[in-house]
Formats: sequence, C-alpha cells, structure tokens
Amino acid sequence: MERRIRFRLNGEWVEVTVKPNELLLNVLREKFGLTGPKYACGIGECGACTVLVDGEPVLACLTLAVDVDGRDVVTIEGLARDGELHPLQKAFLEHGAIQCGYCIPGFIMVAKRLLEENPYPSEEEIREYIRGNICRCTGYVNIVKAIKAAAESLRAGSSSHT
Ligand code: FES
Ligand code: FES
Repeated sequence: MERRIRFRLNGEWVEVTVKPNELLLNVLREKFGLTGPKYACGIGECGACTVLVDGEPVLACLTLAVDVDGRDVVTIEGLARDGELHPLQKAFLEHGAIQCGYCIPGFIMVAKRLLEENPYPSEEEIREYIRGNICRCTGYVNIVKAIKAAAESLRAGSSSHT
C-alpha cells in the first residue's frame, strides 16, 4: 500500500506518496527532479548515488524512500548557497577532477562528510574515505587534490559553507 512520507530535502520540508518498495534514488530523481544523485551500478558498489541522510553518506540505490520519513536528506543540489558553489564543488572544477562527471556528486557528498569529521585529512585518509566510490575516468589523483584543496579552503574560512 502506498504511503505518504514527509522529510526535509535540501532544507525544505517536502511530502510525497511512495510505494513501500520504492527506492530513495528513484524518488529523488523522478519525483523531485534531482538528477545529481546518479544511477550507476544499482547494487551498492560504486557510490554514484550517494546522498546525506541526517548528515551521513547513504547509498540512495539501496535505501527505501519510506526510511527517510521525518529525516534530513541533502543531495548535491543542496550544497550551493545563494548561487555560490560549495568549496568542494569549486575545488573539483579548479583541479580538473571531473571528466564525464557521472561519479562526482557521490564523491562530493562523501567528501563533505569527511571534511566535517576530519578538517585535516592526509592523502591516505582521503583515499581511505572515498574507497567506496568508483571513478572510471580520472584515476583519482585530481579528486584527492581537490578534496585537499577544499579542506584548506574550508579551514581558511574563505566561505560560509560547512
Ligand atoms: S548506483 Fe548506488 S552504489 Fe552504485
Ligand atoms: S569522471 Fe567519469 S566516472 Fe568519474
């Protein structure tokens, strides 16, 4: 039976009717038009679908929409503030960490959590934290550089983003 759920999505409370087996990824993409979280493997192995639920990275391809009832969901679309990109988004652009771009929203959402937990991550710690995310294009070097640069930018307080 369908169920009405209510949750905070990128800072706004929203309501939607979902089937009990409907995946969060499909609800975000199809019912809210948020195509940042990507469908890639669909089985929890690549990280392209990562969103934050109550601040923690979650694979939206393995999460039931009913499980976010009452919770806080943030997608890549929710990171910019007043038209200004998040330092992570800027750093990925500035360091050429993007090729096809398909994996990038997932990397950025995971990196956001990493930098909240650890504002001074070493290269090794970054690589360890992003190990669940797969990029078929970049070879990871520039992704790691971008995350380090964003950490510096956030530490320097050059932005109001957290
Ligand atoms: S699409 Fe969710 S982990 Fe690959
Ligand atoms: S930039 Fe193409 S998969 Fe990562």
